[in-house]
Amino acid sequence: MKLLFALLISTARTFTGAQYYYQGLMDYLENRLLAIEDRMQLWHEQSHRYHTEMKDFKKLTAEAMDGLKNHHSMLFKDLEGAAARVDRVEQEMDYVETQMSPRACTNRADKVVEQDAWELEESRGEEEEEEEWEELQSRVSDCVEIISGIRSVKIMKRVGSPKGMWTRDPRSSKVYIFNGTSGNTIYQFKSLLDFSRSLGVTGSRSIRLPSEWSGPGSAVYNGYLYYIKQEAEADMQVVKYDLLSGSVTETAMFPVEGRATVYNLNPETVADLAADDGGLWLLYAPSDSEPTISLAKMDAATLDIEQIWDTRCPRENAEAAFVVCGTVYVVYNTRLASRSRVQCVFDVNDMVLSEEAPLIYFPRRYGAHASLKYNPEEKQLYGWDDGYQIIYRLTMKRKLLA
Ligand SMILES: *[C@@H]1O[C@H](CO)[C@@H](O)[C@H](O)[C@H]1NC(C)=O
Repeated sequence: MKLLFALLISTARTFTGAQYYYQGLMDYLENRLLAIEDRMQLWHEQSHRYHTEMKDFKKLTAEAMDGLKNHHSMLFKDLEGAAARVDRVEQEMDYVETQMSPRACTNRADKVVEQDAWELEESRGEEEEEEEWEELQSRVSDCVEIISGIRSVKIMKRVGSPKGMWTRDPRSSKVYIFNGTSGNTIYQFKSLLDFSRSLGVTGSRSIRLPSEWSGPGSAVYNGYLYYIKQEAEADMQVVKYDLLSGSVTETAMFPVEGRATVYNLNPETVADLAADDGGLWLLYAPSDSEPTISLAKMDAATLDIEQIWDTRCPRENAEAAFVVCGTVYVVYNTRLASRSRVQCVFDVNDMVLSEEAPLIYFPRRYGAHASLKYNPEEKQLYGWDDGYQIIYRLTMKRKLLA
């Protein structure tokens, strides 16, 4: 461009007549040129500045990103710390829960003590209280223990599928494995030690039953296996099987409406059996429209039904239950397995009231029990949790009125 203008200027000089005119034009053009050059210089500087600013900005953002990354990892560490703290709090809660003694079955006695302490003026009330006390005492059964907490947990092994059942005959100490939710085979181990030492189910005696067991709700007591049989389109049956002779000794029909199952979270459990010296207990749902769990007391020898109760414990969110000394403990969980807890208690002698029994939490495992079987001699529970065989040792407490 400069060249072109220089050419213009030199040409202009040759025409002397118009010299002034051209001189003026030239000055004007030169000034414009200078202005343009200035502006270009400015642009150049600006673009340079922008460029450096851009570079600075990039550097800054990179630094900020690094900072954020550090921050993130710090936050992550904080979160981990918080999780550990939550764990610790939960452990402490477990401890507190085990330390808390249940107030179950002591409601009347408590009230009398409270009256003394508060020095209530109503002596008339006290007389009434005493009457009720005597009435309650007359209803005490020969069984004297209730659960006060879970002392310890032991994970023995992991065999079989996520759902199943295992139990130990309190009399023979033999261990029985019910893999899955139905089948006609069970595995018998001579002892707990044999079971824990063996690889899978090798080293066990497999017992083939004459019919299928339905659901992880069987019971073994004194050499007998009690199991639920439910074939298509047929009523539910309770079968008593002699493990020694390998033959069925008794069967009894147990009509339930439709295909109702007892625990909402374990729909494979058709009904749940528990056996001990006191007899045979059956937890079941009379019909699908019935929201609560029913309890039947049967004669362990003949399978006669002796009595039936509505436990008033909901089936909704129940995963398992067990019977200790005529008291039903129903264990609840959530669909996304969290901590199992005993949240409903029913005593056939009306000694333990659900509202007053404490929540008993299972040690933190975030599992779901497919079954929980109580062993009355050892006072422990045999649990099947996601394929793990677990033993829960329980702490017991005497019923105060006994
Ligand atoms: C348990 O049952 C599952 C299927 O339900 C099967 O795959 C597995 O082999 C069984 N385990 C044993 C030890 O029987």
